[in-house]
Amino acid sequence: MNHKLSIRGGRTLNGEINASGSKNAAVAIIPAAILVNGICRIENVPDISDVCTMLDILRKLGAKIVHDKSTGSVEIDASCIDTYSAPFEELRTIRASSYLLGTLLGRFGRSEISMPGGCDFGYRPIDQHIKGLRTLGASFEMSHGLIRMHADKLAGESIYLDVVSVGATINLILAATLAEGLTVIENAAREPHIVDLANFLNAAGANIKGAGTDVIKIKGVESLNGGISHAVIPDQIETGTFMIAAAAAGGDLTIRNVIPKHMESLTAKLTEMGVTVIDEGDSIRVIRKEIIRKANVKTLPYPGFPTDLQPPMAVLLCLADGTGTLNESVWEMRFQYVEQLTRMGADIFVQGRTAIIKGPVKLSGTSVEAKDLRAGAAMVIAGLAATGETIVDNANYIERGYERFAEKLISLGADIRKL
Ligand code: EPU
Repeated sequence: MNHKLSIRGGRTLNGEINASGSKNAAVAIIPAAILVNGICRIENVPDISDVCTMLDILRKLGAKIVHDKSTGSVEIDASCIDTYSAPFEELRTIRASSYLLGTLLGRFGRSEISMPGGCDFGYRPIDQHIKGLRTLGASFEMSHGLIRMHADKLAGESIYLDVVSVGATINLILAATLAEGLTVIENAAREPHIVDLANFLNAAGANIKGAGTDVIKIKGVESLNGGISHAVIPDQIETGTFMIAAAAAGGDLTIRNVIPKHMESLTAKLTEMGVTVIDEGDSIRVIRKEIIRKANVKTLPYPGFPTDLQPPMAVLLCLADGTGTLNESVWEMRFQYVEQLTRMGADIFVQGRTAIIKGPVKLSGTSVEAKDLRAGAAMVIAGLAATGETIVDNANYIERGYERFAEKLISLGADIRKL
């Protein structure tokens, strides 16, 4: 449901919060449970709407699910699913619904799904998913908004991805897990959630090696067995968003339950900008007292600077001293939120895939819109650093991927109200 957030800026962020489980790992592991014979227990699942949507899709397919939101644990028994067809409306609202292509194909030799949706960053092709699945032996047909794939037998092959794609890498792992023989994915994505998915599947009996590198080898196995329990890794992007929020608003913030290694590209950039970032083992402390310096940032697949932190970083660059640049190399249209920031006084010039950001500017509160999930978080951060009141419309976008975002900020001293 659409709602707004009102943020009164000028307060620093101080104290401690826990990072939640990773959205992008959870929305891959949940459909992966379709491959497993028996009950899977998944812990540290974030209570966000994209996860709820994915669980609803599995329920509609016939899976038995027990979701305890208070502990973040989900039990899935997908052995009762007896259909490969998911023509549901929900698939059009999240990107990760594309994973049903690989997982239903892996389990039933067939899959039929609605075209996946997700945030609007321009054209979001799935040609690499399809190319890879066809290489494994599946046929492909698209009609009336439904994608249908079929294989009498999926057989391992070598697949070179033309672009580094998180989604295609995940879909191919899912399809290859129960395929015959060896599948090798080259130029694979290396994101932490791919490693987490592989760990989950391996715990159930899969044979996946190399996740986290650009060559992933999957030896097909006959079946995967339930009775496993897996805790989802901490959310790299949520952690990064809070690190940037503390740098923008100022203060002294500790984020617990994180993997600092996943934060290296951001930590390096914040340090370069004059923010103090301390690696405390399984927590990260961010302290910002002085004015920050400009930086040039280029988004890249992991381990590069994550595209999903690009909008929050734009806010920080507005507050930094000097002219910085932000180059977006992953999504062709991820600067749609810039207009909203200029309403608050930002001085940003976008040319193609690069934003040139002049600072420091004094942001001033006004009404803005959350254009998508990460842009929505960026608007809240801008509100924290601005003078006066900022109203963020369509704040429900933020709940797709951040667990209790406003509540966590309030616990650190932010003045935020839900309208
Ligand atoms: N691409 C292709 N062909 C394909 C697939 C991708 O050309 O078949 C291109 C895309 O157009 C894009 C690039 O490859 O330019 C990367 O796309 P990728 O497939 O890696 O993205 P995704 O799997 O659709 C996931 C995350 C996004 C995140 C990107 C990049 C999930 C559910 N989504 O999307 O997360 O931006 O990887 O890291 O994991 C978010 O969480 O807010 C979010 C948008």
